[in-house]
Amino acid sequence: MRRGAVRGCPLRGLLLAAALCGAAARPAAAPLLCNVSLDSPAEERWLPVLRHFDPAFLRAAVARVIDETVPKWFHDVIRPIAAELESFMPQPFAGEIRGLCEALGVSLGDGVLLNFAYESTAFCTSIIAQDDKGNIYHGRNLDYDFVDILSKITIDVQFIKSGQIAYRGTTFLGYVGLWTGQSPHKFTISGDEREGGSWWENAIAAFLNRNYPVSWLIRDTLSRAEDFQSAVLRLADIPIIAEVYYIVGGVSPKEGMVITRNRRGPADLWPLDPLGGAWFRVETNYDHWTTPPPCDDRRTPAMKALNATGQQNINFDTLFQVLSVKPVLNNSTVYTTVMSAAFPEKYQTWIRTMKWSK
Ligand SMILES: *[C@@H]1O[C@H](CO)[C@@H](O)[C@H](O)[C@H]1NC(C)=O
Ligand SMILES: *[C@@H]1O[C@H](CO)[C@@H](O)[C@H](O)[C@H]1NC(C)=O
Ligand SMILES: *[C@@H]1O[C@H](CO)[C@@H](O)[C@H](O)[C@H]1NC(C)=O
Ligand SMILES: *[C@@H]1O[C@H](CO)[C@@H](O)[C@H](O)[C@H]1NC(C)=O
Repeated sequence: MRRGAVRGCPLRGLLLAAALCGAAARPAAAPLLCNVSLDSPAEERWLPVLRHFDPAFLRAAVARVIDETVPKWFHDVIRPIAAELESFMPQPFAGEIRGLCEALGVSLGDGVLLNFAYESTAFCTSIIAQDDKGNIYHGRNLDYDFVDILSKITIDVQFIKSGQIAYRGTTFLGYVGLWTGQSPHKFTISGDEREGGSWWENAIAAFLNRNYPVSWLIRDTLSRAEDFQSAVLRLADIPIIAEVYYIVGGVSPKEGMVITRNRRGPADLWPLDPLGGAWFRVETNYDHWTTPPPCDDRRTPAMKALNATGQQNINFDTLFQVLSVKPVLNNSTVYTTVMSAAFPEKYQTWIRTMKWSK
């Protein structure tokens, strides 16, 4: 979490006033849909996607994101040893980053840094819900600085193996991990950042200890786990470089879980409990057993909107509407995705370039 932003709380009154006015209709566009072939060598598989973008724009975007996100001391330390760092990276991530950097004419050090930069500062709202027929719906907003840049490089990616969609996800071009993804007819995953302080020091130490970046574990789980249960086990147990919330949805009733992660393992598992009345769970960037700070409470408005919707009415459209209520949707929201692993073709992302209606 950006502690500074929370402490400041400058926008509270404005947000409350705006929330009371309701969400105005605003333009939302689907991102570019790309196929990435897992049967191609890792170094080459993103090249067809790159052709849709202006390389000069991408190079400028990389430079700006790194410049404004990565501490300078870290940049200075990492750039010269990037080649060694590559030997700590599992495949296919290392090969994909290398291939992207070579194609774009960006140094490998910057490619690695970019992938860490996005890892460090994603703020989000995720919701998992079960309707009265037992269908599971999963939605998320991904909030980030640089909305102007990121909305132009957000893509939906179908990862293809032997002519079939092995899994899909939403990401920023150049970022090989996934914060949002779906394994068809098996499960869906989203990640929300937890923690702040000393992120870079802790993350790099854990990385050198061969822990996974949090978004790489999501992608790895999408590619390997056979079902909801095994996805939850992997996401709960495999060591990662930073604390995070993993939100997981399955295909059968009760298959919904919020995993609160420490680096080494689970801090808490919070399942759906539809029989006990808990037909949804909302996770933003705070532990569910604590109260969010009043200046960044996206949880209560989301819960109110879900209560108002009602279990019998929850579906792809109404979940999207809940994720459009201010301040759940706010100026930092880059995209909204709604998904349900049982209906994989209905996976839908919208780019939200929000115009704050007065
Ligand atoms: C938008 O949401 C993020 C978290 O997702 C939060 O940190 C930020 O304060 C919010 N901004 C506004 C203007 O509400
Ligand atoms: C992506 O691959 C799938 C499966 O092979 C195919 O059906 C689809 O037409 C492809 N889509 C694009 C945008 O190339
Ligand atoms: C939502 O409804 C539940 C059950 O009636 C209630 O306990 C909870 O306080 C409500 N939450 C909000 C934010 O309205
Ligand atoms: C959101 O952005 C608009 C346009 O840039 C600005 O006028 C508005 O004050 C912002 N609202 C918040 C809550 O940050």
